[in-house]
Amino acid sequence: MELHERIPNNVNLSGDKKLQRALEKWLPNYLEWWREMGPEGFQEKDVWLRTATSVEPEGWAHFDYVRMPDYRWGIFLKPAERDARVGFGDNAGQPAYQEVPGEFRNALRRIVVTQADTEPASVEQQRRLGQTCPSLYDLRNLFQVNVEEGRHLWAMVYLLHGYFGRDGRDEADALLERRSGNPDKPRILEAFNQPCDDWLNFFCFTMFTDRDGKYQLSALAESGFEPLARTCQFMLTEEAHHLFVGETGVGRVVKRTAQLMKESEDVRRLGGIPFEIIQRYINYWFSYSLDLFGGEISSNAADFFAAGLKGRYQEQKKYTEHLLVNDVYSLPVIEDGRIVEREVPMRNALNEVLRGEYVRDCERALERWNKYIADEGVSRVLSLPHRRFHRHVGEYAGHHFDVEGNLITAEEFEARKSEWLPTLEDREYVRSLMHPVTEPGKIANWIAPPASGIKGKPFEFEYVRL
Ligand SMILES: [Fe+2]
Ligand SMILES: [Fe+2]
Repeated sequence: MELHERIPNNVNLSGDKKLQRALEKWLPNYLEWWREMGPEGFQEKDVWLRTATSVEPEGWAHFDYVRMPDYRWGIFLKPAERDARVGFGDNAGQPAYQEVPGEFRNALRRIVVTQADTEPASVEQQRRLGQTCPSLYDLRNLFQVNVEEGRHLWAMVYLLHGYFGRDGRDEADALLERRSGNPDKPRILEAFNQPCDDWLNFFCFTMFTDRDGKYQLSALAESGFEPLARTCQFMLTEEAHHLFVGETGVGRVVKRTAQLMKESEDVRRLGGIPFEIIQRYINYWFSYSLDLFGGEISSNAADFFAAGLKGRYQEQKKYTEHLLVNDVYSLPVIEDGRIVEREVPMRNALNEVLRGEYVRDCERALERWNKYIADEGVSRVLSLPHRRFHRHVGEYAGHHFDVEGNLITAEEFEARKSEWLPTLEDREYVRSLMHPVTEPGKIANWIAPPASGIKGKPFEFEYVRL
C-alpha cells in the first residue's frame, strides 16, 4: 500500500513512471473540477469521513475529520488472485486477460467510460443538497457518498489511462468536462442528468440509481479482464454504504410519515411528506433506474458475455453453468399493439436477467419500508411500479403502461400521469420542507432519526464541524 504518495494506491504506481506522470497531470484538473462542482459551501469544513487505507476485508476504512479537498482519493484494487481465469463465455477457463482484448477494445472502453461518467455526475447532481440537510448525520453521509464517488472516478480513470492509451487519456479528460443536466455537454445516461435538488430525491437516487451501479459493478466484478474485475470488487465495498444511505433514508421518511399519520390524515399540515408523493418519487426513480440496465434484448450483452467481459450477478457463486449456449429466456414484448411472449437466446437477455436481480433487491427494501408503516399501526402499502411502466430504453420505450404493466394509450397515460409521477406541485412542496438542521442531535420534522449513528458514534455526534 503506497499511501503517502500524491496519489495513494496499491497498484505500484511508482513502478510505472509513464502512468504516474499521466495521472499526476490529471490530478490538478480533477481537484479543479471538485472545487467547482463538488459540495457547495462546505469545502473548508471538517467532515468525519472514512478513508480507504487498506483493501483488506478487515479495517479497510479509517474514520477521522477531513476537509473534503484533502480527502485521500486513491486507486485501490482488490489484490490479484493467483491463476485467475475467465469465468464464463466462449473463453471460460482460459487465463484472465491482463490487457484489453483487441477486438473488444472499443466496447470495453465504452463500458468503462459509461460507468465512470456516472461517478462525477452524481456529485454534480447533489452539490447543493448540503445547504438543506435534515441533520448533521445526513450531511456527513451525503459527503461520504460524494467523496467516494470521486474515488470511483479515480478508479475508472486509472483503467482508462493504464489500459486504453491515447484514447483513454482523452476520455479521462472528457469526464471532467461533461456536466450533469447541461444541454450542451450532458452526462451520458439520462438518470444522471435528472435534477437531485431535494433530499427525498437524494435518498431515492442512492436507493434506486446507486443500486443499479451495484449490479453493473457486480457484473463487471466477474469480468475476465482482471484489472476491471479487481477495481469493481473494491468499489462494491464502498457502494454498500451508499445503498444503506438510500434505503434507510427513504425508510426514515416513510416511518416519519406513518408517525404523523397517527396524528392526522393531513400529513402536510404537520409538515410531513404524504405517502402519495413518496410513491410517485419511487415510481420515478425506479423506472429511470431500470433503463440503466439497457435493452431487454441486446446483442451487446450477448457479445460481452461471450467474450468473458461482463457476467451475471454473482456468476461464480450462484451458477454452475457458465456457457449459456442453448438456454433461452422468455419475455413479454409488444407486437401489433399487444403484449406477447417471445423466446430469445439467453445470452441476448442478460440485461433483463440482471434487471430481474435488481428488481428483487428493490422489492426486499419495499417490504422493509412497509413493515415500518405497519409497525406504526397505519394501513398503507407502498409498491414498486411494474417494470414496463415509464420506460425510455428497450422493448417498452415508445409504448405506454400503467403502474400494473397494462398497455394503455398515450392519452390515458397523459390523463393519469399526475397520479403516478411527481408533479411540479409535489416537487415544490417537498422543496418547501427543505430547511437546514445543523445542530448536533437535532433533525428535520419530515424524517425520523436513524436507528444508530456511524461507526459506533451516537446520532448526536458532531459529524460535520460547521
Ligand atoms: Fe460509485
Ligand atoms: Fe455510489
